[in-house]
Amino acid sequence: MSDLGHVLVLAGGLSAERAVSLRSGERVLDALRDAGVEADLADADAALIPAITADPPAAVFPAIHGACGEDGSIREVLGLLSVPYVGSTAVASRSAFDKPTAKAVVAGAGLRTPASVTLPRETFRDLGGSAVLDRVLARLGLPLFVKPARGGSALGATRVQTAAELPNAMMTCFGYGDTALVEEFVPGTELAVGVLDLGDGPRALPPVEIHPLGGSYDYAARYTAGQTEFFVPGRLPADLVARASDAAVTAHRALGLRDLSRTDLIVSGHEVFFLEVNVAPGMTETSTLPMALAAAGRDLGVTCRELLRIAATRGD
Ligand SMILES: Nc1ncnc2c1ncn2[C@@H]1O[C@H](COP(=O)(O)OP(=O)(O)OP(=O)(O)O)[C@@H](O)[C@H]1O
Ligand SMILES: [Mg+2]
Repeated sequence: MSDLGHVLVLAGGLSAERAVSLRSGERVLDALRDAGVEADLADADAALIPAITADPPAAVFPAIHGACGEDGSIREVLGLLSVPYVGSTAVASRSAFDKPTAKAVVAGAGLRTPASVTLPRETFRDLGGSAVLDRVLARLGLPLFVKPARGGSALGATRVQTAAELPNAMMTCFGYGDTALVEEFVPGTELAVGVLDLGDGPRALPPVEIHPLGGSYDYAARYTAGQTEFFVPGRLPADLVARASDAAVTAHRALGLRDLSRTDLIVSGHEVFFLEVNVAPGMTETSTLPMALAAAGRDLGVTCRELLRIAATRGD
């Protein structure tokens, strides 16, 4: 047994990504136990605060995706309970989770991100959907990519090829969130780049190249084994891989993130585009961060144990 003491893995939550989070949490739990850590799984529900109060863990590993897990709210509560946790602070998580905010911050740090328009549902409704969409089309052209400004797992996201498809894509998006992010569609190769900081500064893990066999990296392509091919190390030229790695570290630093993150990028020609960054990256069997750790020769459980130890020592 390790000398870390008892830790909690948080998984579940009430977002659309609950099922994915439970899979991530189980995997982290198993890996931690294999690494000799006394770990339990807890959901973000009414039993959490009494459980933590009765038996405070040495540290918490948040594996809750989507709102609550990644928007800072659960971290705010862990802070209230004075329980140390792995990963970014509540404040930093909030900026990272809001895609338009994150895009603005990383653009300020020199990264390129797809041209975009952010539209809250009320603006869209109050000003007349079609008049607004005409202007969006005039500004961004086609094809487009519509997704919730605050979301995950590509839920509510649609590629738009023609102007006629745009209204439905907006409605689908508003089914998952109050604000739509409409971006130019960027063709190219998708990369997920994990960043890990074990106390010696943030470093990129090997970028994972993502090739969905059906063409788009949607919910099914993410979580059904065999629907997507992953290459790590990737097959892109070394200079582009190096630039993608630098971009992920730049995003991690610019957003003030801690411990670990995963930045999603598209390499289009010779350009690297920042899509978004995740502060509670997926840890399922088909998720890219565990693949990147394995490619770097790192054991998942040992790495998570190390991150928990760092959090416990830091104390917040
Ligand atoms: N501007 C774009 N151009 C082309 N494809 C895009 C664009 N934006 C997003 N995508 C595609 O949609 C997917 C989901 O988008 P994104 O990663 O921004 O959001 P997400 O739903 O929060 O994902 P995650 O589960 O990784 O948190 C991407 O993996 C990519 O395949
Ligand atoms: Mg993503």
